[in-house]
Amino acid sequence: MCGIVGYIGNRQAFPILIKGLQRLEYRGYDSAGIALIHNGELNLYKQKGKVADLQRFVEQQDTEGTIGIAHTRWATHGEPNERNAHPHYSQTENLALIHNGIIENYAVIKEMLLEEGYVFRSETDTEVLVQLIDFMQKTNNVCLAEAVQLALSQAVGAYAIAVLEKGNNNQIVAARKGSPLVVGIGKDEFFLASDATPIVEYTDKVVYIGDEEIVTLNRNGEMKIVTISNVEKTPEIKKIEMSLSQLEKGGYPHFMLKEIFEQPKTLADSMRGRINVDANNISLSGFIDNKDKFLNAKRIIITACGTSWHAGLIGKYAFEEFARVPVEVEYSSEFRYRKPVINKDDIVIAISQSGETADTLAAVELAKSKGAFIFGVCNVVGSSIPRATHSGCYTHVGPEIGVASTKAFSAQVLALTMLALLLAKEKETISDDFYIKLINEINLIPIKIKEILKINNELKDFARTFTYAQNFIYLGRAYNYPVAMEGALKLKEISYIHAEGYPAAEMKHGPIALINQEMPVVVIATNAATYEKVVSNIQEIKARKGRIISVVTKGDTIVKNISDYVIEVPATEECLMPILAVIPLQLMAYHIAVAKECNVDQPRNLAKSVTVE
Ligand code: M6R
Repeated sequence: MCGIVGYIGNRQAFPILIKGLQRLEYRGYDSAGIALIHNGELNLYKQKGKVADLQRFVEQQDTEGTIGIAHTRWATHGEPNERNAHPHYSQTENLALIHNGIIENYAVIKEMLLEEGYVFRSETDTEVLVQLIDFMQKTNNVCLAEAVQLALSQAVGAYAIAVLEKGNNNQIVAARKGSPLVVGIGKDEFFLASDATPIVEYTDKVVYIGDEEIVTLNRNGEMKIVTISNVEKTPEIKKIEMSLSQLEKGGYPHFMLKEIFEQPKTLADSMRGRINVDANNISLSGFIDNKDKFLNAKRIIITACGTSWHAGLIGKYAFEEFARVPVEVEYSSEFRYRKPVINKDDIVIAISQSGETADTLAAVELAKSKGAFIFGVCNVVGSSIPRATHSGCYTHVGPEIGVASTKAFSAQVLALTMLALLLAKEKETISDDFYIKLINEINLIPIKIKEILKINNELKDFARTFTYAQNFIYLGRAYNYPVAMEGALKLKEISYIHAEGYPAAEMKHGPIALINQEMPVVVIATNAATYEKVVSNIQEIKARKGRIISVVTKGDTIVKNISDYVIEVPATEECLMPILAVIPLQLMAYHIAVAKECNVDQPRNLAKSVTVE
């Protein structure tokens, strides 16, 4: 959840670290800090608030130094304030450490250190770790890297850390377990970060640090990796394919709006080489290479969190309808702890934009240990989940920076639909004609999204009228039910308006009690097998004076006549409608949040990448 940056080389570290923190700010933004070594002195600068607050605070101070580490925090232990912000010093201020993750046994270690006479200045588990490293260094009389190794062999939990040592201008020691860490390799310089975004403008050569590995970055350009159990590893250099422009707003006021508008392109990118209209063919190498596994699977389990979980539900409908295979969709956080039955002939599909969500990663490891075949649907290339899976399919939508997931969702739905259709085709549970029809429909999706995006200005004006609302209900049925939940999640996470997504027919089993003339009810009522049923559900709400905002198929008249506000989307196949219907809901949530002057890209209490459980 937190963001880590580090630099060692010939340039001034401070500007690189600040810029890096800005790029990683989506990972956490309640406080930030930097440690620099200059003339042998180890200096810390920390501030509550955003990276910009830290930058302002440090402006008048001496920030010289060609080696440093920096951190942007999403609080786990201890409230967000300057005292709990990272980096943390050790007792004698000889070491400074930044940490992303949670040290679960910190209380036991702290007890031991207190008995040894250590005094603590913060409430964090991180300070416990830096004190433990200090203790190991002193009691065993070893170098920093060895002390880190000894300390980590006692730490339980997840971490990505980086440590500096006073007087040691030549070395950063870093390590990871469960939380991501990437090293960028420049000419006589190293960059360190939680993901590649702070590195991309300096180099495209990276090494992804593996679990339980400790890396020492030396000023002479030497890099050494050892495991906690002291096995030396050869760094594997990879090339990152990410451009700087992908990391900038490109004229949009917020990343979220940019990412919503990017969807015609990102979906076309996602389809490239996979959807071939001329050959009437879908090609997914992750499926083709493992066709037998898919054909022999008795069951598919989809595991994910948040928006990715919503995409998983849509995937379930498609797999079951077309490929006639039973699918269970599980919140990763529940799946990993509830002793699920997992068989060797199960396929587990893990969906994650970031590829770093701790619960999903743990669910993957659990399913792997039971012998299931694991398939990842992820966006961030080289992230932990794709590396832990047997095979998979990248969504290829480029970096998603806005905390609210938008373009990742539409591409996840697309990937799952393509997979379901391929399986169905192989199992001969759908006709060739239907398969070809779907391929053609998928191909038209980017054009149809462009069409929907034209209503942006109209939606902007309309959204303003809803800033008063305290609650929203979103309704849908079948494929549109997960869309209702996704629309509600978008609204609540960025506008702080309470919103619930419900299957439309479930209304009368309780939530209908909430309906009055104040309550906006968003109904996704596009053409579908359940269309008439949804019309009846709308009537039930109308009868209780609810305000109906409906998303309908272009040309609809029935729902239009009974709605207070109507949003039209082009017609498509029912299984593809979620990709279209979600677009106005994303825009609506965005404009309501902007009208309420909320921080759309960095909503309170949230972080983009949830690397703690
Ligand atoms: O990176 P992931 O897809 O694994 O993230 C899962 C959720 O944390 C994420 O979708 C979250 O719900 C978003 N903020 C929703 O917009």
